[in-house]
Amino acid sequence: MNEFLSRSHEDTFQLGEQLSKQLIEGDVIFVSGPLGVGKTVLVKGIAHGFGVTDNDVLSPSYTLLRSYTGRFLLHHMDLYRINEPREAIDLVAMAEEGVLVVEWPEHGVGYLPDPRWRIELSFADRGERKILFQHLPEEIHELKVDDS
Ligand SMILES: Nc1ncnc2c1ncn2[C@@H]1O[C@H](COP(=O)(O)OP(=O)(O)OP(=O)(O)O)[C@@H](O)[C@H]1O
Ligand SMILES: [Mg+2]
Repeated sequence: MNEFLSRSHEDTFQLGEQLSKQLIEGDVIFVSGPLGVGKTVLVKGIAHGFGVTDNDVLSPSYTLLRSYTGRFLLHHMDLYRINEPREAIDLVAMAEEGVLVVEWPEHGVGYLPDPRWRIELSFADRGERKILFQHLPEEIHELKVDDS
């Protein structure tokens, strides 16, 4: 597990971009944390790292699932608005292949594939966010960040 302090929107975006370099086909990433903490910002960083050319990766809040083509297919799921966990089943079926990133995975408990990464964002001082990265199984890796 490793923890970062993000001081800005850009820092969080960059952490997503760094993470993208460590992702492989089939990876599932759970991104948790309160409303407005920066989950979508992190996902936009992943998309950018994948070379998604659609530079307007929208918050999928109104659509539950959006898929983008880059180095891998990137499925961005947001379960905030589902009414019960089993509603995640059909969305998961539409998100095979590629990499799946899930915001609000707590809303789909029991109906989601096991994650390879769990990311937890929380509010710190104004504009700052604490971001925890956990790779499962933990022994294998941590998020590596280039200092460049
Ligand atoms: N350190 C930071 N990291 C990320 N975002 C930040 C940071 N500081 C300020 N922000 C701002 O916080 C907001 C985060 O919005 P974002 O849509 O990513 O949240 P979210 O966690 O996806 O919320 P939701 O649960 O509604 O989907 C953006 O407006 C962003 O500019
Ligand atoms: Mg969001």
